Amino acid sequence: MSYYEIQGGRPLEGRLTVQGAKNSVLPILAAALLAPGRSVIHNCPDLSDVSAALDILRLLGCRVEREGEAVAVDAAGLKCARIPEGLMRQMRSSVIFLGALLARLGEAELSYPGGCELGPRPIDLHLSALRTLGAEITEEQGNLRCRGGAWLRGGEICLSIPSVGATENAMLAACGCPGVTTIVGAAREPEIVDLQNFLRAIGARVTGAGGSRVFVAGGRPLHPARYRVMGDRIAAATYLCAAAATGGQVEVAGVEPGALTALLTCLEQAGCQLTAAGDAVRLTCRGPLRSISPVRTAPYPGFPTDAQAILMAALAGGEGATLFVENIFDSRYGHVDELRRMGADICVAGRAAMVTGVGRLHGAGVRSPDLRGGAALVVAALGAEGTSRVSQLHHIRRGYERFPECLRALGASIWERQ
Ligand code: UD1
Repeated sequence: MSYYEIQGGRPLEGRLTVQGAKNSVLPILAAALLAPGRSVIHNCPDLSDVSAALDILRLLGCRVEREGEAVAVDAAGLKCARIPEGLMRQMRSSVIFLGALLARLGEAELSYPGGCELGPRPIDLHLSALRTLGAEITEEQGNLRCRGGAWLRGGEICLSIPSVGATENAMLAACGCPGVTTIVGAAREPEIVDLQNFLRAIGARVTGAGGSRVFVAGGRPLHPARYRVMGDRIAAATYLCAAAATGGQVEVAGVEPGALTALLTCLEQAGCQLTAAGDAVRLTCRGPLRSISPVRTAPYPGFPTDAQAILMAALAGGEGATLFVENIFDSRYGHVDELRRMGADICVAGRAAMVTGVGRLHGAGVRSPDLRGGAALVVAALGAEGTSRVSQLHHIRRGYERFPECLRALGASIWERQ
């Protein structure tokens, strides 16, 4: 079983261009199904979740080729509307194919996405959004059958929670529905804007993304396009927190600094110096991180749940007490027990976690509990004294491209061992 061996305590120094955004590229790859012909997606990160999405596209009848940082998807031969359970289980967010298949073929069949390390992740909002557009959905023995066809029509979808995935599924399905769809209470994440930009590039009429109402004028013929995916704000957050935890100085490029405001505010409060210029953020951290005001995760533009574990890991090796409140997912403190093995002082009560900085963590053998929890353990290990071993790397590979190589380029000592 492979693991990362990390020798902590080296300040990270240097410049890094961050990978393309995982959470953008997955819906954009699904959206490529809407346009018969060959779309080319640039800045497509090489991740296990992306490989799973490409496997699904192939199985559905698309021709898919990777050409360096780009992936070409030819959806002309799309013939199959069914995704088998094995592929659905490989990647939870494969539910995003529901809206795309419905729009292009008028039907979709897939198994219910299985359990998840972040607690139950229902898809009721996805299904009710598609039903509003006229889709008939039946759920039998863990299988979802979704039928649309000639009776699909645009409509008003009201989301009771600004769900990222449900907003994306609704946008994709609406592209195939004649008439105007309004998504009220839409998620406002930058990845939704990126999806809108891709949909526009293939000829769809979509406006409003980034705000809480998204409008889609559907039923238009779509065409393939070339598109460059935005930089990954959570990967950028990870490298910045790693630099902060090690008392380093880095420049992270290839990301929109405005998309990182909530995290940058926290890092600044913790004592880091930050400057944003163009598509880059520069961080300098001298001395231990200080405690900060409560960090409450919230939908964008609030503090991202995906950066909760990562910032917590950095502050655990700092000074003073900081309260975290996880408001998005029920069970997102799987990293806490592992951080404790490294000497962290963290007390969890329901949605709240009180982190008291211990000055310096120490190396230990730890297991990644999930994708961002695993990245958090790497951040903690880089700042800790001594050697750590981080295992269960399949979680980390879902979201980080060439993670050890990128960190080594900044001076870290991190090696993958068997
Ligand atoms: C996406 C991101 C994930 C991020 C999350 C929140 C992708 C591939 N993943 O996940 O990295 O952590 O946004 O920013 O983009 N909910 C329901 N019913 C639904 C759908 C969601 O109750 O039908 C709830 C969820 O349980 C959760 C909350 O809504 O409590 C937010 O989930 P959602 O925004 O849908 O997250 P994902 O799209 O799954």
